[in-house]
Amino acid sequence: MDVQPSTAFQPTTAGRLRLRNRIVMSPMTRSRAFGTRATDDMAVYYAQRAGAGLIVTEGIQPSPIGQGYPDTPGLHSAEQVAAWRRVTDAVHDAGGSIVAQLMHTGRIGHPSTTEAAGHGPLTPVGPSAVQAGGQVFTPTGPQRNVVPRALTEDEIASTIQDFATAARHAIDAGFDGVEIHGANGYLLHQFLSTNANRRTDRWGGSPQNRTRLTLDVVAAVVDAIGADRTGLRLSPANGLGDTVEAGHVETYTTLVRELGRFDLAYLHLVEAGDPGLTPVLRGLWPGVLMLNPATPEPQDHPGRLALVDQGAADLISFGRLFIANPDLVDRLATGAELALPDMSKAYGGDHRGYTDYPTLAHSPAAA
Ligand SMILES: Cc1cc2nc3c(=O)[nH]c(=O)nc-3n(C[C@H](O)[C@H](O)[C@H](O)COP(=O)(O)O)c2cc1C
Repeated sequence: MDVQPSTAFQPTTAGRLRLRNRIVMSPMTRSRAFGTRATDDMAVYYAQRAGAGLIVTEGIQPSPIGQGYPDTPGLHSAEQVAAWRRVTDAVHDAGGSIVAQLMHTGRIGHPSTTEAAGHGPLTPVGPSAVQAGGQVFTPTGPQRNVVPRALTEDEIASTIQDFATAARHAIDAGFDGVEIHGANGYLLHQFLSTNANRRTDRWGGSPQNRTRLTLDVVAAVVDAIGADRTGLRLSPANGLGDTVEAGHVETYTTLVRELGRFDLAYLHLVEAGDPGLTPVLRGLWPGVLMLNPATPEPQDHPGRLALVDQGAADLISFGRLFIANPDLVDRLATGAELALPDMSKAYGGDHRGYTDYPTLAHSPAAA
C-alpha cells in the first residue's frame, strides 16, 4: 500500500506542544470514570491512541456543578489529579501528547447526576433560567433537562477561577496543556448564544457581552498555566444542547478577533454549524487552527487530511474513527481499512467497545 505524502503526517508544534503529526484525537466523553476519577482502563485507552499527534481528553468537569453526565472525570480534587497522573504517564510512555478538555456543561445536566457523584442533588447553572429543550443522559437513563439557576455575578467570578484552578491541576497531573470547551452547547457556548443567555447585565445582549465569559475564562487559564499550552474549542452555530445563535457571524468574528491577543497554542473549530465561516475565521486567527471538519460519515473522514495540505487548517481532529481505530494514524498513512465504532458502547460500560478495538497488527485479518 502506498504511503500518503500528506503533510498531516509531519511533526509540528502548537505553542509549547510538540506533535508527532498533525492528526488529533478529538475530545470524546466516554463516561467510564470511577467516582469521577480516571481509571486504569482509561490509561490503557488513551495510551493505545498515543499515535495521534495530540490527544484531547474527554470533557472533564472543573467543578462538581460543572458535571453534566454520569461517570465523567473531574479535575477539582487531589484524588482526581493523582488518578489522571496514571493516564498522562501512560500516554507519555507511549510517546504521545495529551491535553485535558475542561468542560463545564452549564444548563445541560441533572441533579441526579451530581447526587450520584456524591455532591448532592445540584440544580444545573446557566446564564439565565432558561431550560434547554430535549433530554440529558442521567444515572437512570435519559431525562428532560431541568430549568437551570442563573449564575450570579459572584458565581461567574468563581466559575472563571474554577477553570483556572482546574488548568493548574491539569499541569500537576502531567497534562501537556488544556483545551477550554467553549463549544457544543455547554456553559461558555450558552453564554455565546442568544437563546440560553437572556441576561441584561454585562454578560448578555451584545456580542461583546456574550463573548465576555469565554474571553475571561481564557484570560484566567492563560494566567494560570500560560497561553502556549492553552487551547480553546468553539462550534459556531452548531445548535447542540438547543443552542440558538442569532447573528453568529458577528459573534464569532468578534470573539476570534479578541482571542488573537492571547497567542494561544491553538483554536479548535467544530465546523458542523456553518462551514462557510471556517475560512473567514481562519483569516482572522493568527495562530494554529485545529479543525474538526464537517464530514458527517466516518467513512468519508480520510479526505480530511487534504485540508492540511490545502492550508485550510494546521491540525485535523478525528473523533469517532479514533474510537474504533486505536492506530488511526498508521491506518491513514497506509490507506488501510478503517473500522467503524459501535456507538451503542460509546457511553458507559466496561472495556468492551473501549479498549478492545484491535490495531491492524492485532486484527483477526492479520492473525
Ligand atoms: C462519543 C462522543 C463523545 C463526545 N464527547 C465530546 C466531548 O466531551 N467534548 C467535545 O468537545 N466534543 C465531544 N464530542 C464531539 C467530537 O469531539 C467530534 O467533534 C465529533 O465526534 C465529530 O467528529 P467526527 O466526525 O470525527 O466524529 C463527542 C463525540 C462523540 C462521538
